[in-house]
Amino acid sequence: MIVAVDGPAGAGKSSVSRLVAARLQARYLDSGAMYRCVALASLEDPDHTPAELAASIQIELGSRVRIDGRDVSAAIRRAEVSARASEVATDPDVRAALVAQQRELLATGDWVAEGRDIGTVVAPHADLKIFLTGSPAERARRRGEPVNERDVRDRTRVHSPLQAAPDATVIDTTDLSLEQVVERVVELAATANGGSQDA
Ligand code: DC
Repeated sequence: MIVAVDGPAGAGKSSVSRLVAARLQARYLDSGAMYRCVALASLEDPDHTPAELAASIQIELGSRVRIDGRDVSAAIRRAEVSARASEVATDPDVRAALVAQQRELLATGDWVAEGRDIGTVVAPHADLKIFLTGSPAERARRRGEPVNERDVRDRTRVHSPLQAAPDATVIDTTDLSLEQVVERVVELAATANGGSQDA
């Protein structure tokens, strides 16, 4: 089964998605890490466009994130990479290249995939769509950095803006613990999967 987890920065997508994936014995796709890889590559190589880089670099996801074999797990989490990721994500050619890779991954096996456009664009046929939200203050606190500028850009861009799919279940995580959110998503997954907790 495919569980799509979308929402703004700091809503808890990564922590929730990793734990839900473990509970469902599914794989975890961090689509934001792919945009971060293109952002890092473009900061390091201004001579090529983000779209050219998205088409040429080899991104490896897993316990470590690698670009062409180089471990960039820490580098892609830097604040300037966060900001640049949100910028390169407005480019339709970058999105097309990464969405194609994401769909290829999701074509086989069970997945919990997190991002901004998983339920709307990457996997509109996902078995379960979750949209996590949270108050701006709480999300900024979790991130340790302001998220407003990125939020506005992610929500207002022309191509695949951040929005909840009409059939997504919206969960406001502001006053919930991580465990409570995970429990709720696992329950919804069991229902979506016909009452069994097996993925
Ligand atoms: O989830 P994250 O913070 O790692 O994402 C970094 C940026 O990448 C985010 O500001 C917007 C972009 N992004 C996107 O446009 N679509 C996705 N599916 C995932 C991330």
